[in-house]
Amino acid sequence: MSTAGWIPVAATSEVGAGTMVGTQGGGQSIALFNVDGTYYATSNICTHQFAHLSDGWFEGCMVECPLHAGQFDVRTGKGLGPPITSDVRTFPVRVVGDMIEVYLG
Ligand code: FES
Repeated sequence: MSTAGWIPVAATSEVGAGTMVGTQGGGQSIALFNVDGTYYATSNICTHQFAHLSDGWFEGCMVECPLHAGQFDVRTGKGLGPPITSDVRTFPVRVVGDMIEVYLG
């Protein structure tokens, strides 16, 4: 399998259980989440207007946008109601050694 498209974006030690970080990969702003030891990645840009999800609040498997409190399920990217009308993009995640990689396609 080609490894092209997998981009290392953070060390696992940077994303402790129950936390999120905003990072960059392949020219995109990406949010990384740790849900009970499993990592998830989404676009870091809210689908409502322009805000970084990593500046908001993260609890359980839900992130809340800092600007108008729109919420997403970080596992699926699903928008969880108004004002969100579009789901946020998600990216496949894998761990290689102590690095978290996302697949940007
Ligand atoms: S910009 Fe995120 S809810 Fe409005």
